[in-house]
Amino acid sequence: MYFPEYRPRRLRASGVLRDMVRETTLTVNDLIYPMFAIYGNGVKNEITSMPGQYQISVDNLAGEAEAIAKLGIPAVILFGLPETKDDAASGAHAEDGIVQQAIRAIKKAVPELLVITDVCLCEYMSHGHCGVIRGNEILNDVSLELLAKTAASHAEAGADMVAPSDMMDGRVAAIRAALDRDGYDNTPIMAYSAKYASSFYGPFREAADSAPAFGDRRSYQMDPANALEAMREISLDVDEGADIIMVKPALSYMDIIAAARSEFDYPLAAYNVSGEYSMVKAAAQKGWVDERKITMEILLSLKRAGADLILTYHAKDAAKWLREEGV
Ligand code: PBG
Repeated sequence: MYFPEYRPRRLRASGVLRDMVRETTLTVNDLIYPMFAIYGNGVKNEITSMPGQYQISVDNLAGEAEAIAKLGIPAVILFGLPETKDDAASGAHAEDGIVQQAIRAIKKAVPELLVITDVCLCEYMSHGHCGVIRGNEILNDVSLELLAKTAASHAEAGADMVAPSDMMDGRVAAIRAALDRDGYDNTPIMAYSAKYASSFYGPFREAADSAPAFGDRRSYQMDPANALEAMREISLDVDEGADIIMVKPALSYMDIIAAARSEFDYPLAAYNVSGEYSMVKAAAQKGWVDERKITMEILLSLKRAGADLILTYHAKDAAKWLREEGV
């Protein structure tokens, strides 16, 4: 049927009708909030390039976790800034490492808040790369051992889920084996499966002090030009035992999210990364966009594209706004 018999505007005529036929909903259960744990006491440093986001010392994490849980946000993902860095990423898998301490503090204060850990070496390496280096080369297989050790130490400290973000080949299998060997066969893996070498990570590297000292990450993270390769990467992670798959960044990669949704019947996460957050904040501070409306539109769009879960720095604001809207 065509116009004038069929009129799509009929179902847009009132709020009630729009609510009834809405295809996609965003709820607080979809959100995962990223946090940065740092050494020291009483620290809450605002990250210059990410207004409203902080590096927080372990003693301040309990209060922060309570506030997050009170907003109804089900999960956080932890990143750590160690006291010292070396070329073996010792801080990543130390029993008293910064993330291990942060996990214990949060689980003690708010046991029901799901704690996911980012498993990567870049924050702990003096050279800032996500693997062990030899000369200018980032080595794959020796890095797997450190990643597996790191994931197991997170589980040991009480992490509910681990999320490898390094993009080494074979890391999901290596981590699954280490977790199972140590008795953590019920700890799920959320794999950063299609993670692109992206300029959208710029502000994060200030937040996590993890910029590479030489070169870039293009020999391990994906080429932004490739979509088919993303499906191969995801399928490898699924075969290796990933429980949740992820596409990262989110906004410039919605085609990848949509393709992953139709090809894989696994829970799918999208990482709405630092640069995406900072651009919204900067434009909003200038009064050029309506922060609340644009943020909710972005998050809803990611759900519509096919994401089940969204990792986002907007999580706390979005949770407040959803509550105001009664969602
Ligand atoms: C660690 C890691 C990065 C991000 C998440 N985990 C940075 C990178 O790969 O350089 C980016 C997150 C963001 O930009 O919000 N490898």
